[in-house]
Amino acid sequence: MFKLHYRLERRAIGMTLAIICAASVGGFVEIAPLFTIDQTVEAAPDMRVYTPLELAGRNIYMREGCYACHSQMIRTLRDEVERYGHYSLAVESKYDHPMLWGSKRTGPDIAPLGGKYSDEWHVRHLLNPREVVRVSIMPSYAWLMDNDLRIDDLSGQLAAQHAVGVPYTPDMIRHAADDAYGQANPDSNRVAGVRARYDDNTNIRAFDGIADRLTEMDALVAYLQILGRLTDASNLDPVGKDLE
Ligand code: HEC
Repeated sequence: MFKLHYRLERRAIGMTLAIICAASVGGFVEIAPLFTIDQTVEAAPDMRVYTPLELAGRNIYMREGCYACHSQMIRTLRDEVERYGHYSLAVESKYDHPMLWGSKRTGPDIAPLGGKYSDEWHVRHLLNPREVVRVSIMPSYAWLMDNDLRIDDLSGQLAAQHAVGVPYTPDMIRHAADDAYGQANPDSNRVAGVRARYDDNTNIRAFDGIADRLTEMDALVAYLQILGRLTDASNLDPVGKDLE
């Protein structure tokens, strides 16, 4: 066995070909599942896209590194399903570019978080986690309330998502900034546009508690409240229901 190896090592081209063969096995194992992606991703006709405000919140979630402590991926293991609920379906991350599954849980998984707490709970928790969870080791993110949300780049953000396959219409892309403002200001005249362009169940309210100001807190809370709520697919899946 070693003799063969010593002989191979003396032949530059033979050795190079052998390395390519060995490395391509690993490559194939990683790439092969992608060939079946059409069968892997479940059909979910009710799957909706993130609104511009939710997308902005998602960007803040990435900027602040929340994914370093929180996963968004419930595995099919019994202990996970019993703790968090139905395991994550592929379709639920269909429009996530990049995906935020995460690989570390210093805090809990937040894949099904939407609707679990009130907006006010989230705002207080992000301002000072210890105020609502006495033993929390989560850092505070108080500046989110001080920072006005940047919305002039949202059309570009939607266009970029569209380029990688998210079905935003030209109308949605054009009105991204208005829709972000309207979603967090229920009394403004821009609400009608949000309702017309997005799902009927879109949350429209002052997420940070202040109606006439659009802050980064608005965007992040809007995003947290939609986690696990983009489609009903996992509620309708009978296999997962048996497990729960
Ligand atoms: C250093 C690790 C760490 C980071 C970074 C972190 N968290 Fe947490 N998070 C925790 C821990 C620990 C808990 C559990 C205690 C608690 O509820 O405060 C938690 C709890 C939560 C909860 C409540 C979850 C539930 O189901 O009860 C939410 C929501 C949350 N974090 C959101 C965020 C967001 C948004 C960010 C980024 C702005 C963030 N976290 C960043 C550690 C972290």
